[in-house]
Amino acid sequence: MVIRSLMIVCFFIFLGSSNMTAQEYDYIGAAKCKMCHNKPATGQQYKIWSEGPHAKAMESLSAEEAKDPKCLKCHSTYYSVDEAYIATLTPEEGVSCETCHGPGSGYKSNAVMKDREKSIEKGLIIPDENLCRTCHNEESPTFKGFNYDEYLKKIAHPVPAAE
Ligand code: HEC
Ligand code: HEC
Ligand code: HEC
Ligand code: HEC
Repeated sequence: MVIRSLMIVCFFIFLGSSNMTAQEYDYIGAAKCKMCHNKPATGQQYKIWSEGPHAKAMESLSAEEAKDPKCLKCHSTYYSVDEAYIATLTPEEGVSCETCHGPGSGYKSNAVMKDREKSIEKGLIIPDENLCRTCHNEESPTFKGFNYDEYLKKIAHPVPAAE
């Protein structure tokens, strides 16, 4: 009996700590977001992203540079996250949706996504200036400064306001 309850206690301690330390969600890639985020009526976020600088971030690197972890850490989602959490994310995506919005395996269903609070509980990130500055900083060999408002405008992909 004593051993049994001890094991149960240990199990819950294990659960608790793994929840705090381990990442719980997988990277599913932009093609999955596209299914729901590419209609003009709701802002075609996928199209805007795919034509913007982040989707093309791998194209700026030479074949050599595209193998260099020093460049990949800012130019690629695929090569900068733990492999264990990659589901259907692909290397070509450059800086993909999930770098800014968090890995999507938990929030990708319509039922969750419709509810902002629930989405955040399931891993959705609403990014802010600090997140941009993890890459837009002096460590970048081509850094030309960073003005959040200006830069945000250049990559804006809002859901159009309902009339
Ligand atoms: C099954 C459909 C579906 C998929 C797949 C999906 N979304 Fe959504 N998403 C929605 C819906 C519905 C909303 C509700 C907001 C709206 O469009 O008005 C939403 C809202 C959002 C929001 C805005 C949250 C807020 O309240 O500001 C973000 C950011 C977002 N999705 C990112 C993503 C990303 C990144 C992916 C891929 C990893 C993704 N979504 C995949 C349907 C989906
Ligand atoms: C994971 C790293 C990373 C994060 C986070 C990031 N960016 Fe970027 N961003 C890049 C890279 C890399 C490029 C250059 C892409 C290329 O041309 O190869 C870039 C380019 C840009 C450009 C184009 C700049 C130009 O010279 O035309 C804008 C605008 C931009 N980012 C805005 C933002 C904003 C706003 C945020 C935060 C919401 C953000 N970025 C977050 C890595 C990042
Ligand atoms: C700390 C993050 C970071 C690192 C590390 C990084 N880059 Fe970038 N890179 C960026 C950002 C952000 C931009 C967008 C330029 C801007 O607006 O400042 C960019 C833009 C570029 C561009 C496009 C040219 C331009 O001026 O916009 C090239 C080429 C480039 N990087 C090459 C590299 C190479 C090669 C490496 C590795 C030696 C590297 N980068 C490492 C963040 C980074
Ligand atoms: C470089 C970072 C970055 C990338 C990459 C990115 N987003 Fe966003 N996204 C943002 C920021 C910043 C906002 C605005 C957050 C706010 O409302 O303050 C945003 C907002 C959104 C919204 C909500 C718009 C609204 O008006 O409520 C949706 C939906 C969304 N993104 C989907 C996507 C999808 C899908 C992709 C990939 C195809 C993607 N994003 C790629 C940074 C990013």
